[in-house]
Amino acid sequence: MRALTRPAPASPLARAAPLALAGVAGAAAYAALRRRGGSSTSAEPNRHTRLAQLNGTPARRYYTGHNLKRAVAIEDLRAMAHERLPRFALEYLEGGAEDEASLMRERRAFAEWRFTPKTLVDVSHRSLATTILGKPAAMPLIVAPTGLNGVFRNHADIDLARGAAASGVPFVQSTMSNETMEDVGEVPGLRHWWQLYVFGGDEVWQELVARADRAGCEALVLTTNTQIFGNREWERRNEATPSLLTISSVLDAACRPGWLARTLATQGMPVFKNVIDFVPKDQRGFFASAMWIRDHQPTSMSWDIVGKIRQRWTKPFLLKGLLNLDDVRRAVDAGVDGVVLGSHGGRQLDWTVSALDLVGEARKIVGDRIALHLTGGVRRGTDLLKALALGADAVMAGRAPLYGVAAAGAAGVGRALEILKSEAINAMGLLGAASLAELGPQFMMRLPESFVDS
Ligand SMILES: Cc1cc2nc3c(=O)[nH]c(=O)nc-3n(C[C@H](O)[C@H](O)[C@H](O)COP(=O)(O)O)c2cc1C
Repeated sequence: MRALTRPAPASPLARAAPLALAGVAGAAAYAALRRRGGSSTSAEPNRHTRLAQLNGTPARRYYTGHNLKRAVAIEDLRAMAHERLPRFALEYLEGGAEDEASLMRERRAFAEWRFTPKTLVDVSHRSLATTILGKPAAMPLIVAPTGLNGVFRNHADIDLARGAAASGVPFVQSTMSNETMEDVGEVPGLRHWWQLYVFGGDEVWQELVARADRAGCEALVLTTNTQIFGNREWERRNEATPSLLTISSVLDAACRPGWLARTLATQGMPVFKNVIDFVPKDQRGFFASAMWIRDHQPTSMSWDIVGKIRQRWTKPFLLKGLLNLDDVRRAVDAGVDGVVLGSHGGRQLDWTVSALDLVGEARKIVGDRIALHLTGGVRRGTDLLKALALGADAVMAGRAPLYGVAAAGAAGVGRALEILKSEAINAMGLLGAASLAELGPQFMMRLPESFVDS
């Protein structure tokens, strides 16, 4: 347990040895528990058809093995991730704030929108190819910024970048990532964007922005809705104190020898490599540095910062985390190149609307002047089509590629993106749209919430 909290000793192996030993000892007990308790995945495969006709039989299971090709949907990659990750990491990946109403809304908003497909349309040539911020992309999707990816797998940021590059879509690297932006920038063919959290004094963001420019980042994404950290109670239930996991969480982690081997045993606790030098020397341990950065995000941050950054960053500049139409108007006036509507994956303010709820009105405001992106709840190719039909230029997917990276590294990310793409291409044909340009509200109908089964 103490290995997760002590300042790191010299050798990574020595750092992880106590957990590795506990892992071997615990593996048998864990396997026995799993045999008794069935799959650890919380997803319930029959849920979509329960009301229709299946009523729980035949029993269904998502795929949790090792053959990525057998993961046919994002839910399979999710089940694979659930099989492999310890509880505290899964909670970090999946959880939302407080009652998780914002998190639930993101999926439910997609469920409320139904298609009205057109028939007898020639859809023999279909393509998702598009441009994002003026440059070609294989589909209108961006891999969203996510921090602390090293807890899912060693070098997960590089894996996400590789998966995105191989799939022809941009990757946004988080300020709280665990690989340097220079190393990520080396990934061949990558469209590399940098996500900025403002913390500390002005010199911090100024240096990060200058570095991102030198590292070849082609766009900057300022996240605006995290200056106060969301109340993520389910994460906290795994913590005895803010810097110490509970004994049961540590034992649960110790029972995952595969995860230990892919993470702590080789790298020790992940380090926030791009920002650790800004943290006081005595606060550079894993938990302490995360808390220090979190506590030094100025709650006084206002629209002034947008103008200041705009003056220094001449490449495309986007604001992420908007959920108010006045802010969308203001962003256009502030001279940014795009906005990303979203609730930070339901992890910040609870009880918000979702990005999908706003996208149609937001489109009316921005017109063709700036890019309009949406983040939150994308798990299917049909979600991508719904977002586009309702007004988005592209979506940013967070958890879907993370399930892939936790399941199988870069190949898993590639598989997640391949699944979303092939689902979208297939659904376009069924919808009667041959190109993205044809998508629009004419294909969509919103059901009253009482009709939604999800
Ligand atoms: C584990 C995790 C970490 C995240 N870290 C960041 C981050 O560092 N910066 C950021 O702007 N957004 C972050 N987000 C929000 C995502 O960029 C994205 O908006 C959100 O995940 C979208 O919802 P989805 O996961 O349903 O696709 C994070 C989300 C998750 C799930």
